[in-house]
Amino acid sequence: MKQPSNDEQARWEQLYKEEQTETMPWYYPNIEHILDLGTGPGTQAIALAKMGFRVTATDISATAISKAKEKSKQEELSIDFFQDDIVDTKINDKFDFIFDRGCFHTLPPEKRDVYVKNVHRILKTGGILFLKCFSYKEKTLGGPHRFSPEQIEEYFHRHFEILSITDTIFQGNRRPLPKALFSIMKKIG
Ligand SMILES: C[S@@+](CC[C@H](N)C(=O)[O-])C[C@H]1O[C@@H](n2cnc3c(N)ncnc32)[C@H](O)[C@@H]1O
Repeated sequence: MKQPSNDEQARWEQLYKEEQTETMPWYYPNIEHILDLGTGPGTQAIALAKMGFRVTATDISATAISKAKEKSKQEELSIDFFQDDIVDTKINDKFDFIFDRGCFHTLPPEKRDVYVKNVHRILKTGGILFLKCFSYKEKTLGGPHRFSPEQIEEYFHRHFEILSITDTIFQGNRRPLPKALFSIMKKIG
């Protein structure tokens, strides 16, 4: 890499010595706004806030929200937690990213199209949805609904460009670790 010339370095040095950094046009960080949808215990939301994102976290369960809020307070993190049903959402904000780890796959089939439309509406133009759900390859009984890549495409392709769908697993205390699909999709329109 080209080394800065002494003149260049001196010019920047002088600027930072003479000016308050707060007055510089580039002072303000680009902090992306993430929604952790169906946050449950809030562990994902907390991890994202620690990474420096602005985080909103919602769940249909008021008790989950109250417990997650308490946990984030103990960690002195500022996360906007509130109760909300994504199928009948009152959210008006627009997000750069939405994370859904394990919410979509709990919804009954008749609620999935509304979910897709609502998630599309609350993403900014070009916003990204990260979706993790149980895979059709998971053969144990019980638990959430399972999906194949073709089914994910069928539900989302009218509103999202499917960037990738990858085989993975759900970390946690279930043994063996459940097989999952991780999809990354970009809002169309
Ligand atoms: C399997 S848990 C996953 C929790 C969290 N995302 C995680 O990975 O730790 C699914 C969560 O989705 C929430 N949920 C289910 N239906 C929902 C809905 N319609 N709107 C918002 N949250 C919902 C549940 O209350 C539950 O906390």
